[in-house]
Amino acid sequence: MKVRANIIGLGFYVPEKVLTNHDLEKIVDTSDEWIITRTGIRERRMVKDGQACSDLAYEASIRALEHAEVKPEELTHIIVATFTPDYCTPTTACVLQAKLGAKNCQMAMDVAAGCSGFTYAIDAARGIIHNYPDAKMLVVGSEVCTSRLNFQDRSTCVLFGDGAGAVVIAADEKKKRATILDCLLRADGGLGYLLPVGKEGGSAKPYKVGDTVTADYFINMNGPELFKHAVRGMSDMTLRILKKNGLSPDDLDLFIPHQANLRIIDSIAKRLSFPKEKIYINVDRYGNTSAASVIIALSEAYSKGLIKPGYKVLLVAFGAGLTWGSVLIEFNKERI
Ligand code: UT7
Repeated sequence: MKVRANIIGLGFYVPEKVLTNHDLEKIVDTSDEWIITRTGIRERRMVKDGQACSDLAYEASIRALEHAEVKPEELTHIIVATFTPDYCTPTTACVLQAKLGAKNCQMAMDVAAGCSGFTYAIDAARGIIHNYPDAKMLVVGSEVCTSRLNFQDRSTCVLFGDGAGAVVIAADEKKKRATILDCLLRADGGLGYLLPVGKEGGSAKPYKVGDTVTADYFINMNGPELFKHAVRGMSDMTLRILKKNGLSPDDLDLFIPHQANLRIIDSIAKRLSFPKEKIYINVDRYGNTSAASVIIALSEAYSKGLIKPGYKVLLVAFGAGLTWGSVLIEFNKERI
């Protein structure tokens, strides 16, 4: 019998500190009106001093593990999708493993695929379960985007926020809340120049002791160009994964696009003729949380009771690399 990757628990965590558009008005030359009109963002969350990517990942993981009724010692694999790891090494997955006390883990690794990271990590988990049918995997998207924001650059610092989401994946049919039906991924490294983070401070341009950190260490992006690629990339991928599975947009019960900009979401909805009520949106409250974006949204929609038994849900993400990815999920018809 084919082994299927099932979601048996999910959870999310966002830091308590709220950074509003009005707060940003005091830091850079921007306005609440500009940010809301051009992005749909009203506020975002920000870590407190000393709170790292692994701390957010830990909080989300504890919630997902409790939901799955799985103890940390039972975990066999941990995958953390992030572009804001605690360190170069050890990986955030290894730091998280230690914090959770998941001492029986056979593999812990980070996945770096920008804002698409969670979809990449889910596809990796889907592959792993075929080799290890007894695996109990924790898949996390966690970001401290604010650690890579240049708060002197109004074109980027108003867009991003911090947060984490997690799922526990296993083949276990009895505990299944949802099944991963399919994933589709893509990458186009030729367009990487549109969204570089760390043009300085990596091996391409290393820092020496005493060097001053410049704007190139932080997120840089060509917003208008990315906007076009994001709309086209996510729309095309949505149609492709649906067609591959014999479905049409009408068959989806909930569509969860990457939460980067409300205008991107609106453009995709228009292109695909998706009714607004089938699209989950929280970009207004959290901004762009990169690899955590779609899993925070899925987990939040679930916790609000917006997902009913048998629902088909599509996650689609787009980000640095460039990368894009989608995950088609069917919720259990009996128990979610
Ligand atoms: O998650 C990874 C994928 N990321 C994305 O998909 C992001 C995609 N891009 C976007 O969401 C949008 O392009 C942005 C929100 C980043 C920018 O919106 P836009 O409508 O494309 O604005 P723009 O960059 O074309 O800038 C328009 C004007 C400029 O002023 P001038 O040259 O027309 O005088 C900017 O300087 O808006 C100005 N501007 C701002 N004004 C007030 C840019 N940022 C701000 C700001 N406050 N925060």
